[in-house]
Amino acid sequence: MEKNSAFQAAGYIQAVLRQNLPDFKPRAACILGSGLGRLADKLTDKVTIPYQDLAAFPISSVEGHAGELVAGRLAGVPVLCMKGRGHFYEGRGIGIMTAAIRTFKLLGCDFVFVTAAAGSLHKEIAPGSLVAISDHINLLPQSPLVGANDAAFGPRFFSMANAYNADLCSLLRQALVKNGVEPAQGVYVAWSGPNFETAAEIRMMQIIGGDIVGMSVVPEVIAARHCGLKVVAAAVITNYAEGLSDTALSHEQTLHCAAQAADKFVQVMTGFFAELAEPPAG
Ligand code: HPA
Repeated sequence: MEKNSAFQAAGYIQAVLRQNLPDFKPRAACILGSGLGRLADKLTDKVTIPYQDLAAFPISSVEGHAGELVAGRLAGVPVLCMKGRGHFYEGRGIGIMTAAIRTFKLLGCDFVFVTAAAGSLHKEIAPGSLVAISDHINLLPQSPLVGANDAAFGPRFFSMANAYNADLCSLLRQALVKNGVEPAQGVYVAWSGPNFETAAEIRMMQIIGGDIVGMSVVPEVIAARHCGLKVVAAAVITNYAEGLSDTALSHEQTLHCAAQAADKFVQVMTGFFAELAEPPAG
C-alpha cells in the first residue's frame, strides 16, 4: 500500500512536472517545518500540487502546516518543497512520512533538507538560534521501518552512520556563517508529543546527550536513510525547553517565534543551495 502510493505519487508528480516544467529534475526535497513554509514562496518557476492529489502525502491537522508540494528552483537548484508534514502525534502511525520520502527517492532526489522548530536544552542555545542537526536520539516508541521490509527501497537492517551527512552539514554551517549566524550544531531528541515535555524529562534528555528537542524530523530521517537519500537538517529554536525558563510553552509561541526567525532561515537555506550550485573551488 505504502509502496504503491509512493509510485503513484511519483508518477503523478512526474506528469505534472513534464507538462509545466520540462527538463526539471529535482535534486533535493525540503521538508518545511512550523512557520517555515515561506521558503517555498521564494522558488522560481513554481508549480504547486496539493497533497489531496497525492495519496502518499500526509494532509496535516496542525495549524501552521499547509498541505502542498511546491516544485521550483532555489538559487537555481531544482527542489521539491513539502509545505507541511505528518507527525507521529497525529495518530496515523509512525510511518506517516515514509511514502512521501520514498516518492522523493523515486523522483531522483539526492538528498532531503529537513527543517523543524525545536526547543533548546541548553542556556547557550537561545530562542531564535538556527541549529544544524548533527545526529539524533529517537525517543519515539518505534522506528518507522518496523514491519515488513520493502526491499525495493532498502535492506532490512541498515546503518545510521553519517545519517546527517557531514559534507552537507559543513556546507550548511558555511551558509550560516556567511549569513552572520553563529553556526550552532546539536543532537536532536525526538519526543512523541503532543504534550510538551516535563522538566524531569528535559533533565533526562540533557543527561543522555541531547541538545534540542522536537516532535518531528526523526521518522523522515530514518525513512530517508533506509532508501539511500542523504540528509541535512536544521532547526529553528523557538523556546527554551520546560524547566529552563519561565515562559509558558504553547504552539502559538512556537509559530510566533518560528515566523520571527523565518526570514533568516530562508536566507540561510538559499545560501546553502547557492553554495551547492557553485562548482567546487580549485
Ligand atoms: N518541545 C518539543 N517540541 C518542540 C518544542 C519543545 O520545547 N519547541 C518546538 N517544538
